[in-house]
Amino acid sequence: MTRRTDDRFVRHRDALKTVTDRLGGIAYGGDYNPEQWPREVWTEDARLMREAGVNLVTVGVFSWSRLEPRPGDYDFAWLDDVLDLLHAHGVAVDLATPTAAPPPWFSHAHPESLPVTRTGTRQVPGSRQVFCPSNPDYAHAADAIVRRLAQRYADHPAVVLWHVHNEWGNHNALCYCDVSAAAFRLWLRERYETLDELNTAWGTDFWSQRYGDWQEIQPPRDTPAFINPTQDLDYRRFSSDALLRRHGAESAFIREHSPRTPLTTNLMGTLEKKIDGFAFAEQCDVVSVDHYLTAADPRAHVGLALNADLARGMAAGAPWMLMEHSTSAVNWQPVNVAKRPGEMRRNSLAHIARGADAVMFFQWRQAKAGAEKWHSAMLPHNGTQSSTWREVTRLGRHLRALTDVRGSTVDADVALVFDWHAWWALELDARPSAHLRYLDLVHSWYEALWSLGHTCDIVPPGSDLSAYRAVLVPSLYLVTDDDAANLHAYARGGGHLLIGAFSGVVDVNDHVRPGPQPGALRDLLGLHVDEYLPVRATDRIALSDGSTAHTWAERLVLHDATATLRFAAGAPGGPAPGEPAVTVNRVAAGSAEYIATHPEPAVLRRTVAALCRKAGVLPTADVPVGVEAVRRRANGGSFLFLINHLDESVTVPVRGTDLVSGRSYEGKCRLGGGDVVVVREYD
Ligand code: GLA
Repeated sequence: MTRRTDDRFVRHRDALKTVTDRLGGIAYGGDYNPEQWPREVWTEDARLMREAGVNLVTVGVFSWSRLEPRPGDYDFAWLDDVLDLLHAHGVAVDLATPTAAPPPWFSHAHPESLPVTRTGTRQVPGSRQVFCPSNPDYAHAADAIVRRLAQRYADHPAVVLWHVHNEWGNHNALCYCDVSAAAFRLWLRERYETLDELNTAWGTDFWSQRYGDWQEIQPPRDTPAFINPTQDLDYRRFSSDALLRRHGAESAFIREHSPRTPLTTNLMGTLEKKIDGFAFAEQCDVVSVDHYLTAADPRAHVGLALNADLARGMAAGAPWMLMEHSTSAVNWQPVNVAKRPGEMRRNSLAHIARGADAVMFFQWRQAKAGAEKWHSAMLPHNGTQSSTWREVTRLGRHLRALTDVRGSTVDADVALVFDWHAWWALELDARPSAHLRYLDLVHSWYEALWSLGHTCDIVPPGSDLSAYRAVLVPSLYLVTDDDAANLHAYARGGGHLLIGAFSGVVDVNDHVRPGPQPGALRDLLGLHVDEYLPVRATDRIALSDGSTAHTWAERLVLHDATATLRFAAGAPGGPAPGEPAVTVNRVAAGSAEYIATHPEPAVLRRTVAALCRKAGVLPTADVPVGVEAVRRRANGGSFLFLINHLDESVTVPVRGTDLVSGRSYEGKCRLGGGDVVVVREYD
């Protein structure tokens, strides 16, 4: 598990503690947009917030056109009143910079700040994040309002946290305008220094792309044939960095004027491919994430758990904030299914189980105008006469009962490696199979761990793995030399690795590594790949234990490794019967296993179970499949979260006291269908 002495762990933990200390418990609340409502509603809002147990609201996220109605003409009076009112009602504020929505006057005065799509369309205002991340006029205007806000509210007693921007890159991460092109060239100069280096890194002798002048280099815009993949990959890196630079600039003003109040930005975990979440998290004091369920997915709670574990990974193991989720339906999916009774509470407590010390929603009061008027909220259109409101007030009471949980850390003996760069690279154009999707692999491997009852930390490939008993690497097509060495060192040090298909293939520049594949992991795995054998979408490959696999196979030649599962009957063009599908290689005191296909869930589960047994990893609790058990630990003891995702009641072994009901369990607890208990365990 993450080392509790790690600098980043301590920094994130202490920063969040300053917030929750000021709140006196777990943070509870949501985005609050008073500018959308007349003043008389504000008083009612403050009163109802108290009634619901709300102690923190995020204010100002999209307020720029109200705070600066004309260029340089600021109006903070209304915000002063809002903050004073909230403070008087005992509601603290997470004060946001409004830079995710530049006002119409800005876009009108600076049309070249509007983002341009890959095909060359310049986008128009009337929405949000309508700016090019590299535009200097945008930077100038954003810096000015952030500086003013930071100066004015640095010492306001309501402000306990700064919230930088909103979901960096959600809508505008990849801009292809000329300003971005110029900024890209500068970024490339810093990265490569010389054109020779760039030409080598990009492999520009392919298709006569050799550059003789920096000015010739373009963003990866629409081209007749495949774009240079390294150019495309570098553009993703550049685009993530451009936003990170904006994050850094805003943060610097806040830190200069308000050094004692921590700052955060709401990240999106796996819901955001375009920015490197680990890089942003590192720049925050407090790590916070937003999470929304995919209504069409009956297993959405597993994706929730994955994202919560990733949030904790981004926080280096420290507690983190759930900055947004929904009380019920969202407004942006094809069919926005409402949450079932109890589902919101279950979701909220599942985030807490995995290390959240905050349960926040988008948003406090449901809008009556604008694109999000059909998005659920804590206070819905029909007000306090609603089941949502009843659930919201109940959750507020329950969270108060969980006050002692805050600050505790989550037990995890297993790590799962996640990497935005490997994700970007795997899904560039012109791969052996477009069906090998990064998140499919990560989700299926995570689901195996989840259904076995093992909690994992989700960590970048370069992190210190030495404290984990087992490490899963579902997909690492691109791996740097250092990260590959890190995996080798982990196994040599006695760790047990499980690595997924088509990993270790290319270097940091997306160049195929020399020698037989997988170049970076060949020795570690004790094998080489004779040929990659992608499988048609409709084909299934039989495995020797009677199960099946799909999407992908490889023809392996084993050196030191031995096969633990074989292909039985190949799909057309697939592996021959008897060829290895899953292998294991002993590495000093540890081991490295390889899965050269995309097996059905049962096989993955069996393979992961065997790995965990070998590594001595025990499930968190003895619970039936469908019941989630996660343990948080603090100096003084431990808290066991039991979440029943089944419709029927189950009996689970437990000794301790239910924090919410005060009931004692002297050996077992009957958990109703859909119910959750949080138990302070006896020693
Ligand atoms: C995101 C944004 C919010 C809101 C919600 C709706 O998370 O940060 O402003 O748009 O989505 O689900």
